Amino acid sequence: MAAPTIPHPVRIPAKLYVALSGFMIVISIVSTLQTFPYGDGPDWPALTSSRDPRSGLHILNQRRLEVPAAFYKLLKGCTSILWCVLIPLQHNQALRQRFPAWHRRGGYLATGLSVELGLAGYWMVVRGWTTTHENFFHIHRMYGLSLPGFAWPTFDAALVPLGIFFYSSMVMTIATARRKQFEAHRRWAMIHSSWGYAIAVERALMLALYAAGWLLHALPPAIKHDLLRVPTDYDGKLQAELGALAWSLWIAGIIVTVWIYRQGSGAGIISAWRNSRSVASAKAA
Ligand code: HEM
Repeated sequence: MAAPTIPHPVRIPAKLYVALSGFMIVISIVSTLQTFPYGDGPDWPALTSSRDPRSGLHILNQRRLEVPAAFYKLLKGCTSILWCVLIPLQHNQALRQRFPAWHRRGGYLATGLSVELGLAGYWMVVRGWTTTHENFFHIHRMYGLSLPGFAWPTFDAALVPLGIFFYSSMVMTIATARRKQFEAHRRWAMIHSSWGYAIAVERALMLALYAAGWLLHALPPAIKHDLLRVPTDYDGKLQAELGALAWSLWIAGIIVTVWIYRQGSGAGIISAWRNSRSVASAKAA
C-alpha cells in the first residue's frame, strides 16, 4: 500500500535552532563551570535569583554541593554542547543531501545523546538533586489562587510530560527514517528537536524572570509590597523562586507546543501520526 501523502510540508525553524543552540551552549558552559557569581544568600530581592531553599544558593552553585562534578560536566554539560552542535547540522538540507551517510550517523549520535541527556536528568530527579518542591504533587499558587494561570504543579512533575513528548517523538523520528518516510521523518525530527530546545526556552524564561524581579524591585514600596505583595522575608523569597522555577518549565512546555503546532500545522502533525500508524499496520498485515 502506498503511504498517503502528508499535507502542509513542515517548515524547519533553522535560524531559531541555531540561536537556541548558541544560547544553550553558553548555558552549558556556565553550568559546567559550577561557580556562578550571582544570586546566593538572603540579600537578593525576590525573583532576581533562583535560590535552592535547602541552602539559599543559586541553583547552579547548589549543584556543586551535591552533584558529582564529572557527572554534571560530562553527562549534562559536554553532551548537551554536542547535541546543540549536531541538531542544526542535521536539519540543514544542503548538508543532508551532500552527505547522506553522515546525516544517518549524525542522526544515531543525536538520538543517542537525547537518550543520555534525558536519563541523566531523571537520575538527578531520583537522587533529589533538582530544585523542586519536596512534595512531587504540590501545586504552586500565585496569591493563593487556584485559578488557571495562577496555579501550576512542581518542576519535577513538568519533567514527566516533557519526557513523554521528547522520547515518543524521538522514537517516531527513528521509525519514520527506517521506513524511508522522509517527509514524516522531517516532521518528527522537528518535533523532537523542539522538545529538546524546551530546556533552552526554560532557561531564557528564567533570565526574563530575573529582569522582571529587578523591575519589581525598582517599584515604589507601596506598589511592590502593598499592592503586588512581592515577598521581602527570606522564606517568602525562596518559596516565590521555587514556584517561579517550576512555572518557567511549564510555560516553556506550552511555548514549545504552540511553536510545534505552528511550524508543522496541527492538521499536518495529526495526519503524520495517522499515516505512520496506517503504514505500520499495512506492513504488519
Ligand atoms: C527528557 C529530556 C530531558 C530531561 C528530563 C532533562 C532534565 C534535566 C534536569 C532535571 C536538569 C537539572 C536541572 C536543575 O539543575 O535544576 C537538567 C539540566 C540540564 N540539561 Fe537536561 N533534560 C533533558 C534533555 C536535555 C537536552 C536535550 C539538553 C540539551 C539541549 C539538556 C541540557 C541540559 C543542561 C545543559 C543542563 C544543566 C544546566 C541547567 O540546569 O540549566 N537537557 N536537565
